[in-house]
Amino acid sequence: MDDRHRLGYHEVDDDPDVAVLLATMEDTAGWEATRRLRAWERDHIALIPGERLLDVGCGLGDAALALAEDLGDRGEVVGIDSSEEMLRGARSNARSARCRVRFSRGAACSLDEPDDSFDVARAERTLQWLESPEAAVAELVRVVRPGGRVSLIDTDWSTFRIDVGDEGLGNLVRDAMQIERGRAWNGGRRLHSLVAAAGCELVARAEATQTWTSWDPDESPAPVGCFSMESLADDLVARGRLPRTGRPAFVAAIHDAARGCRFSMRLTMFAVVAAAP
Ligand SMILES: C[S@@+](CC[C@H](N)C(=O)[O-])C[C@H]1O[C@@H](n2cnc3c(N)ncnc32)[C@H](O)[C@@H]1O
Repeated sequence: MDDRHRLGYHEVDDDPDVAVLLATMEDTAGWEATRRLRAWERDHIALIPGERLLDVGCGLGDAALALAEDLGDRGEVVGIDSSEEMLRGARSNARSARCRVRFSRGAACSLDEPDDSFDVARAERTLQWLESPEAAVAELVRVVRPGGRVSLIDTDWSTFRIDVGDEGLGNLVRDAMQIERGRAWNGGRRLHSLVAAAGCELVARAEATQTWTSWDPDESPAPVGCFSMESLADDLVARGRLPRTGRPAFVAAIHDAARGCRFSMRLTMFAVVAAAP
């Protein structure tokens, strides 16, 4: 992995190091917080055999394909993504699916799917990369039948914290994360407002915090599934929060703390399930 890769998912196929983006999706699927919220979602959307499920920003399709197990052989999964690279991975992962599966290229804010054509529509960690999360939720609602379910899962980067035993450094990162990051929207904690604004009735909401308590910076430039500390330092410099000359010391302080087992980091993810009007 490039030490300064920003892990941006706006335009995956244009990324010179697209393999890093794909591999990071696999890493983040293994996060405890992701696994917990996906299991929670499965309980709350309660798919039944024969239903049609839409996953927008489906990535490698793993979440949709796991949910497909509840659809029997008469159900259908449709995954939409703007990235052909992601879709290639998703199609390959779909080979053993029991139900019908279609992974197609498309845009979250203007879906090429008919009104009321799905029982459930979901978007996981996709809204944060869009110009208009509101428009994407409106599209999910449009394509779900009345009374169907809309399910959203997203990280909220304003919850990101680093503890390396240096209060000043921790506060610097916390304060910088309150600002929209230029690479990801901080709206995870407002998912319930988004579905309400789209006319849905909230069924349930949940959150889960991913924590990292160990990481060897000599083995990998970044904690599992996360951006590197070099990339974080670049962000802080770009926002005027860290002088360019302070960048090496910032990175070294975090790396040294990680080597000395004085490192922890956390990030909260949020989820909602709502009934479509
Ligand atoms: C962080 S990944 C999440 C993938 C998957 N939902 C998951 O949770 O594993 C974000 C996905 O959204 C896709 N994406 C970004 N902008 C999009 C858009 N405007 N329309 C559709 N998909 C988009 C990316 O290509 C990427 O696959």
